[in-house]
Amino acid sequence: MMDNEAGAFYRKLPKVELHAHLNGSVSVQTMEKLISRKPHLNIKHSMTAIGKGQRRTLDECFQVFKVIHQLVDTEEDILTVATDVIREFAADGVKYLELRSTPREEKNTGLTKKSYVETVIKAIQQCKNEGLDIDVRFLLAIDRRNGTEVAMETVELAEEFMLSSDGLVVGLDLSGDPTVGHGKDLLPVLQRAKNCGLKLSLHLSEVPSQLEESDLLLNLPPDRIGHGTFLHPEVGGSQSLVDKVLKNNIPLELCLTSNVKGKTVPSYSKHHFKYWYQLGHPSVICTDDKGVFCTDLSQEYQLAATTFSLSREAVWQLSQQAIDCIFGPEMPLVLQ
Ligand code: IMP
Ligand code: ZN
Repeated sequence: MMDNEAGAFYRKLPKVELHAHLNGSVSVQTMEKLISRKPHLNIKHSMTAIGKGQRRTLDECFQVFKVIHQLVDTEEDILTVATDVIREFAADGVKYLELRSTPREEKNTGLTKKSYVETVIKAIQQCKNEGLDIDVRFLLAIDRRNGTEVAMETVELAEEFMLSSDGLVVGLDLSGDPTVGHGKDLLPVLQRAKNCGLKLSLHLSEVPSQLEESDLLLNLPPDRIGHGTFLHPEVGGSQSLVDKVLKNNIPLELCLTSNVKGKTVPSYSKHHFKYWYQLGHPSVICTDDKGVFCTDLSQEYQLAATTFSLSREAVWQLSQQAIDCIFGPEMPLVLQ
């Protein structure tokens, strides 16, 4: 837990959150609401979050999402989850948020992918009408497990909403279990999305042995990289991958707690933040799944600062530089 004075500094620090999966960001309080709506599922909160000091394999983390998806399967649930998540980020001092989520269809409840997206957009608009001091955009997520056809459907949906959502839908995310499927199958779909003006944030090299896939996907090139844990040579990546990232100046979204709790990084001090930050490369601190990993963006900034001995001025700059990496329109977003 944060001590009071330092805690207040990080909470007050105006922040930009660029890597937040909607259903991974559900807080304990919201989870209680969802569980009480569906008592028959017999889901305990311990099944939806990974607490302090606990670690899980990536595979186990993906099981957690399956449980959460059972609890979030109606438009009403999505509205609750999205409005709560946005309010919580705002309360944590986040001024600009890009949420990402995988449109899901649920035959039992009549939820369609289209109504899923519409509901997230409705939540963003509701929060805006409440006057919350936070600017929110939405990325539609492609779950790599679901293959090319579904990915193409998601791109079409994103194109449609990019044109009809008043600028709220700005891009696409590629996520899901990194050990399933191959990025090469998704290249044409991602290329098409890029050609239509959708921004691309791709989970890349989240696990080892994805050099070939990362190389192919970096040729697009994406607009941002999620994690990029195993890109650099010190952990089995390669200099040529690093060079591609540097040459195209592709920002990295870095999520310390998520990577340590998901066991893809052995400890905070060994996190690849250090490698990229020392190069002066755009590195944006993010939460990934603040609900599942029991964290928030203030804590992530504080963790980065204490682990890598960053001064408060450096922390301030880190948060300020994140503005250059947003997918929203060029805007006079000055963090103050
Ligand atoms: P949703 O897209 O809002 O349902 O958020 C949960 C989904 O985000 C999961 O089912 C995964 O597809 C994706 N996700 C969350 N965290 C990670 C991660 O660390 N790596 C890859 N995919 C993730
Ligand atoms: Zn992620």
